[in-house]
Amino acid sequence: MAETTNIAGTEHHGDGESRRDFLVLTATALGVVGAASVAWPFISSMNPAADTLALSSTEVDLTPVAVGQSITVVWQGKPVFIRHRTEKEIKEAADVNVAELRDPQTDASRVKKPEWLIVVGICTHLGCIPLGQKPSDPRGEYDGWFCPCHGSQYDSSGRIRKGPAPLNLALPPYEFKTDTSLKIG
Ligand code: FES
Repeated sequence: MAETTNIAGTEHHGDGESRRDFLVLTATALGVVGAASVAWPFISSMNPAADTLALSSTEVDLTPVAVGQSITVVWQGKPVFIRHRTEKEIKEAADVNVAELRDPQTDASRVKKPEWLIVVGICTHLGCIPLGQKPSDPRGEYDGWFCPCHGSQYDSSGRIRKGPAPLNLALPPYEFKTDTSLKIG
């Protein structure tokens, strides 16, 4: 399947099976998610004006996203990573000694529902898009995301654990309208 027709990879881990599907969410994000090594300012220059973006929100149906899968949606021109976390990922995130973190935040303070982690997919170092959304991607040593630009590693709560990035992956404003309906923005 051509990369340019998809913006979101889904993945499935946990039962020894791995598959690669794509959810076609919008045609406006061509190349955004695939361009992991392209710095974000370049991408942003193609986006609509800021005053238009400021008003926008993105609604996402989470029904097709199984445990262990991740999708990427676009909100205000930015990639937002949505991961349906496994029990293992939730436990790993909760078991971290927060005092040892560079940007100390509990996992509980970063989620509204433990099974859903929702973060802005932009590295806090220099703005690349970290890898970890697709089954074939490296996820670093902490079951999260790996930024190929300078090697930052994020954990399964999107917190910075290694490499030069100073901060955790940002949290977008969002609310669950129902158990499976998410509104970002
Ligand atoms: S931009 Fe991610 S490590 Fe530098």
